[in-house]
Amino acid sequence: MKILVLNGSPKVKSDTFRMTDAFLKGLNRDGTHEVHIIHVREQQIAPCRGCFGCWQQGDGHCVIDDGQNAILDLYRSADVIIWSFPLYCYGMPSPLKAVLDRTIPLVKMRMVQQPDGMVRHEPLVDFSRIHTLVICGCGFPHWEGNFDSLKLMCRTCFGNPDMVCVPEAPLLNVPEAAVVADPLLKRFEAAGAEYAERLTLSPETVTALETPMIPAAEYIRNVNGV
Ligand SMILES: Cc1cc2nc3c(=O)[nH]c(=O)nc-3n(C[C@H](O)[C@H](O)[C@H](O)COP(=O)(O)O)c2cc1C
Repeated sequence: MKILVLNGSPKVKSDTFRMTDAFLKGLNRDGTHEVHIIHVREQQIAPCRGCFGCWQQGDGHCVIDDGQNAILDLYRSADVIIWSFPLYCYGMPSPLKAVLDRTIPLVKMRMVQQPDGMVRHEPLVDFSRIHTLVICGCGFPHWEGNFDSLKLMCRTCFGNPDMVCVPEAPLLNVPEAAVVADPLLKRFEAAGAEYAERLTLSPETVTALETPMIPAAEYIRNVNGV
């Protein structure tokens, strides 16, 4: 399988990418998959100009001459795409959002109304064969609603992807928290192996990955240094 990983954390030492890295270890444990990791922070992808030059051109590429066209080529040929990023203001970090915005060359201007009433652009690519997984870490402890806007956007853009949304992600880079972080990383590795078999994650696995490492009150006390 061809696996494209889009690491959207602006940090070199990403909390979220620690989970993604463990997941990839399990996913590619037999070493048979072709894994391309794009660290978006290294790419300087320009924001979309909104010119629709891509649709006039119609060849599945963007008119801006930067690294995005190589990403689009990988996107088109991928069997699995993993979006790995921290939650920023209830969405994705802006450099990664620029990558997402600039995937519009993969659809045509022509609009099609779906049986459920939703309107989409006609695809240039068979998106139904691409399996999408979103791994998102965030800084808050678990509270109802923190990931709602992100989940809605991902469901609409990617068509019901598998999603793993992890609270308390900064603990993954705190050495004193290894006692709770390492078991979570092991669960990510096992989840990667599960994904290799089934190309999806069971609800039980997602729940196990999203379970807070420590109680919210303890996490808040640690963050506040009291
Ligand atoms: C600009 C900015 C916005 C953030 N917005 C949120 C947010 O909306 N909700 C949240 O829980 N954490 C938020 N965080 C915290 C990050 O998601 C958290 O620190 C995460 O662990 C960073 O992951 P990374 O190391 O993979 O980049 C934000 C952090 C920054 C810098």
